[in-house]
Amino acid sequence: MHLLIPAAGSGKRMGADGNKLLLQVRSKPLIAWTLLAAEAASSISWIGIVSQPQDWDKFKSIIAELKLKKTIELISGGSTRQESVYNGLQALPSNAEQVLIHDGARCLATPDLFNACSEAILNCSGLIAAVPVKDTIKVVDDNGIIKSTPERKQLWAAQTPQGFDVKLLKQCHAEGVRQGWEVTDDAALFEKCGIEVRIVSGEETNLKITTPQDLTIAEFILSYRE
Ligand code: CTP
Ligand code: MG
Repeated sequence: MHLLIPAAGSGKRMGADGNKLLLQVRSKPLIAWTLLAAEAASSISWIGIVSQPQDWDKFKSIIAELKLKKTIELISGGSTRQESVYNGLQALPSNAEQVLIHDGARCLATPDLFNACSEAILNCSGLIAAVPVKDTIKVVDDNGIIKSTPERKQLWAAQTPQGFDVKLLKQCHAEGVRQGWEVTDDAALFEKCGIEVRIVSGEETNLKITTPQDLTIAEFILSYRE
């Protein structure tokens, strides 16, 4: 299975000076944990890291230090996650029929989750890892007034990996460019194109490291695992 890792963000909500994926978590850069999980997932054979060229030297030395055995390519990132994934899709080897996309910032996903998604995408067109929402979710207007309360049993929190048929995903991205759609994940492009996307059981610990608080939680989870 081919895996694309969007890793070209600027980490604004982290408030760090540069790409949050280069911050240290338990004495390794955050992205190193993501790469180690992908390396340990037996289903993954090729990894494309979509990142800004200014970070490539740092990424190269992380890859060298981890002594990763899988084929790894660095691909130029775009100015949004959507653009970064688009660039990644263009760089996939021509024999890639399915692809998994996994945020570099989700450094706690396990090899088992990668393998489950790799297996499941062989039998559907699109999937995402997700977990049922535990909080009651409110739809709120700009004035802080609640407008509605969606029924909780229909709500799932989207994670990555997300898996897709490559041909369909390329078509959906192209349609997104034509229509000017701005989305935060690739499943949303499939939904807008009317193509079914299935849920695979995600992991409660598969957080997207977004704020400094998340770094502390990641440290705790990684130390617990060790
Ligand atoms: N990403 C990317 N290209 C972008 C923006 C984001 O590849 N232009 C990646 C990030 O590196 C991250 C993933 O998409 O692995 C999820 O994005 P997010 O958590 O929002 O990271 P950032 O965009 O870096 O953070 P922020 O939104 O706080 O600036
Ligand atoms: Mg972002």
